[in-house]
This record gives sequence, C-alpha cells and structure tokens, in this order.
Amino acid sequence: MVGSAIARQLRAGGHPDSHLVTRTHAELDLTDQAAVRGFFAAEKPDQVYLAAARVGGIHANNTYPADFIYDNLMIQANIVEAAFRTGVKKLLFLGSSCIYPKFAPQPMREDALLTGTLEPTNEPYAIAKIAGIKLCESYNRQHGASHGIDYRSVMPTNLYGPGDNYHPENSHVIPALIRRFHEAKVAQAPSLTVWGTGSPRREFLYVDDMAAASVHVMGLDKATYDQHTQPMLSHINVGCGDDVTIRELAVAIGKTVGYQGELLFDASKPDGTPRKLMDSARLQALGWQATVPLEQGLERAYQDFLKTHA
Ligand SMILES: NC(=O)c1ccc[n+]([C@@H]2O[C@H](COP(=O)([O-])OP(=O)(O)OC[C@H]3O[C@@H](n4cnc5c(N)ncnc54)[C@H](OP(=O)(O)O)[C@@H]3O)[C@@H](O)[C@H]2O)c1
Repeated sequence: MVGSAIARQLRAGGHPDSHLVTRTHAELDLTDQAAVRGFFAAEKPDQVYLAAARVGGIHANNTYPADFIYDNLMIQANIVEAAFRTGVKKLLFLGSSCIYPKFAPQPMREDALLTGTLEPTNEPYAIAKIAGIKLCESYNRQHGASHGIDYRSVMPTNLYGPGDNYHPENSHVIPALIRRFHEAKVAQAPSLTVWGTGSPRREFLYVDDMAAASVHVMGLDKATYDQHTQPMLSHINVGCGDDVTIRELAVAIGKTVGYQGELLFDASKPDGTPRKLMDSARLQALGWQATVPLEQGLERAYQDFLKTHA
C-alpha cells in the first residue's frame, strides 16, 4: 500500500517511470542477502524508500512472531547494508507507532522511545522496527561524515487507502469495517455489530498523505533535519494530529458505504488501549501537515475496495 503511494507521489512530483526502480516480493525476496546485494549492485539507486515489511494485525503477529521479527530484521539489515555498500546517500526507513511503550504518555512523542515495555502482542515486530531506526542512526554515526550518508526514519500512525489489505480475518480496522459494512449492505442485514464499546480513540492517516510526508522528509536539507532531530533520537512521527472514537469511525464508514441497518457495539469484547495518538509536532515544525480529511479518505478507500473486491 505505502510503497505504491510513494511511487504515485514521486511520479506526481515529476519523476518519470524511468527514475523509479521497484520490485515486488515475488521478484526480489529482501530476506535474501545475496539477492539484495545483487539488486543494489545492478541498479545503483541514489535514494531508497524502504516501505517493504512483513505486516499484519494482532492475530498474525501472535501466530507468527518468529516470522515478524526475523523477516523485518533481515529486510532492514540487508537493505541498509547493501545501500551503504553501493554508495546510496539517502534512505528513508518506515517504522510504526507500535515502537512506543504500551503506557507511553499521550500523544506519543518521539522521545518516548525505549522508556518502557512494549505491547506484548506485537513486541517482536516493534523490536524489529526499533532496530531499523537504530540501524539508520548507527550507520549515520559511523559513516555519515566519511561517506556523506544520511539515513532517516519516519513512524506512521494507522494508515488506510488504496492498496489496503481487506482480508476478512487479517486486516486493520478501516479495511475490515469497509468490507463488513459493504457485505452487510449487499446482504441487507438489519444490524452490524462492532467489537467493544466504541469509545477507544485512534488516529488514522490517508496513505497518500503518508507518501507525501515521506517525500517531504526525504527532501529536507541536512541542516534542517539535523536541527530538529538528534543523532540517537532521529525518527519523525507521521500522523494527522487528530483522533476519532471507534464509534465515530464506524458511523463514518457506514455513511460512506451507504449501509442503512442498525449499528451495534458488543461491550463484552475487549476495547484495547483507550487512546493511541502520535504527537506530530516535530513533522509540523519541519513544514508538513496532513491534507486529506477522514471522510474524503474513506470515500476514496471505498471506491478502491469496490474496484478490487466487489
Ligand atoms: N498500514 C499501516 O497502517 C501501517 C502503519 C504503520 C506503519 N506501517 C509501515 O509502513 C510500511 C508499509 O506498510 P503497508 O501498509 O504498505 O504494507 P503492505 O501493503 O503489506 O506492503 C508491504 C510490502 O512488503 C512486501 N514484503 C514483505 N516481505 C517481503 C520480503 N521478504 N521481500 C520483499 N518484499 C516483501 C509485501 O509483499 P507481500 O504482500 O507479497 O508479502 C508488500 O508488498 C511497513 O514498514 C509498515 O510497517 C504501516
């Protein structure tokens, strides 16, 4: 989802297709060190956006913890090292808001990193993402001055939009609800039940906003980036700055899809943490802000769902 959006953003910014080198998972397994080195040696890119990762919801993280930590550590280590060996000066690593401690003060600031224990369900994934930030920082600290490299990290909040995963059991909350509301509409179901009380608050960012933020951060001159970051606290949160309750989200999705039935909440099911919001002040100070309101983003996401799944 994000990799395609970054490619769209770069094209829209005037980079012709001939400037963009992309690979699908089937074409290049990034856990294969020799294959990654071969790819970098052949293509010699001058900038790298690292959007590939093994991603998934709670169920997948709990069922495949070994895959989540191994694949993500290998993907990052192979890419950062191969990029460095082939003279890539600029690289952007995409992490995630789950790097922050389970009980981090809200909204979560960059300096909450490594101040407490993580949410256990996705700890292996989060540890890999933290290692990704530290890989970039360590390469900068050791090789930045001598080789002129500048490897940066951005931590997105929950993302949604075209290219999302709508798998019935293994998707995030927005694509899961889009699918469920759509199916309920088609079946003319009298009611649809959402797990929990609907009161937890969550933040959502449209994927093209995430792509725009990524290109913005990559394009900042080094002096500006350095002024707003520290060598060992260099990552930048990417959020829209606002959160909504799950109830507000469900109502908005129901409206977007055009579902006429009743919306119910099953309060006997777990709510999860009451609030999860990023503090994106660092990014705002660097001159970027989200532009796509939730209703507009949901409409575009639903149109994408209809094109690909209905
Ligand atoms: N979506 C969100 O809400 C969200 C939130 C915070 C952070 N992020 C981060 O944003 C980045 C992009 O996420 P996304 O939502 O765009 O996920 P996505 O749509 O699943 O994209 C990840 C891509 O990586 C590929 N990939 C996985 N393992 C690979 C491997 N060993 N070799 C080569 N390619 C491999 C996947 O291919 P296959 O599908 O074929 O395996 C997929 O194309 C990730 O770093 C993720 O952690 C996402």
